[in-house]
Amino acid sequence: MTEVKIPSKFFQNWKEILQGLYPGKPNFTEDKWPKDLDDKVLIITGGNAGIGFEVVKKLFENTNIKIYIFARNEETTKSKINELIKENKTKSNQLNFIRVDLADLTTIKPAVDEFLKLEKRLDIIIHNAGVMMPRKGEFTKQNFELQLGVNCIAPFLLQHYLNPILISTSNLSKSTSCRIVWVASTAHFWAPEHGLYFPDPNFKTTNEPSNLTIYSQSKAISIIIAKQWSLHHKNSSVISVALCPGYLKTGLSRNLNKIENFFGDLITHDSSLGAYTEIYAALSPDVENGDYIISFGKKGNCRTDLNDVENSEKVWNYLEEQIEPYISK
Ligand SMILES: NC(=O)c1ccc[n+]([C@@H]2O[C@H](COP(=O)([O-])OP(=O)(O)OC[C@H]3O[C@@H](n4cnc5c(N)ncnc54)[C@H](OP(=O)(O)O)[C@@H]3O)[C@@H](O)[C@H]2O)c1
Repeated sequence: MTEVKIPSKFFQNWKEILQGLYPGKPNFTEDKWPKDLDDKVLIITGGNAGIGFEVVKKLFENTNIKIYIFARNEETTKSKINELIKENKTKSNQLNFIRVDLADLTTIKPAVDEFLKLEKRLDIIIHNAGVMMPRKGEFTKQNFELQLGVNCIAPFLLQHYLNPILISTSNLSKSTSCRIVWVASTAHFWAPEHGLYFPDPNFKTTNEPSNLTIYSQSKAISIIIAKQWSLHHKNSSVISVALCPGYLKTGLSRNLNKIENFFGDLITHDSSLGAYTEIYAALSPDVENGDYIISFGKKGNCRTDLNDVENSEKVWNYLEEQIEPYISK
């Protein structure tokens, strides 16, 4: 088995990494959001907790955009929805729940089918749900390493099923208002060269990749998907963009040890600020295809090897092969 090669970090990389410590205030705030969102429909995965919930809350409180939370836990998601609706009962139709478990690919098509029964348009999808550094050896139902499966393979399949409605909406809408937002992370700087470790993507037999390497791999892949999606859909006006929401206090760190959490606490910001990064990517007219957005809503630079189209195409092909068995003919 070849060694996992992680590219060295240079001044520019460290600048990007350290930016997250002192990101400054968000500029794309509520007063700057587009005013014409009333008929728009948005899906967000993992909108029941952490940054995803903050996105839902801000959009619910400040716009009339219709939101579908794709999440795995009906009870907790509905109680979060009720928490928001209690404050504004007239807007109860604005928030909806659809069940999907990203650790089980068989739940994805039924979720999309349910959505398609209810809506004729889709303007924005935010692939926000994710897991970080679970216990080693945790796998999805279809036997993918958990981070690869939940953070990459499942969103890729979900997007496959949502492409037709998103593209048809973009053909009707003002150009550039239809978006796919892939939530990645600055952690991608620790990913294997070119993102995916092809000899053993699920790290089943490779010794010694730190758990951070495997999380980072999944986030580098999200950046690659964002860029390659645009190249594979050149005739659509949908904008596909990746981001790091910021360094934020959320449940994502639940699997870190006490010392890691102690230091993590010192460098992280309130989770509500991360919502501005995701909302900038979803709504700002300044965002362009293939951008990589950083906290709390400005353009950044991902690791340069992830811009290599030839290698990224191999990652895309790998993902297509993985979802192929789960696509109903
Ligand atoms: N927090 C940070 O500093 C930070 C930094 C960079 C990137 N990010 C990224 O930001 C995104 C949101 O993370 P967060 O910080 O808000 O973490 P979080 O509080 O742990 O929220 C993660 C969300 O993902 C959902 N999720 C996990 N596994 C799922 C599955 N199998 N099926 C469906 N949903 C699932 C969770 O649902 P349950 O509630 O059911 O578990 C939850 O809604 C992630 O992609 C993360 O990698 C976060």
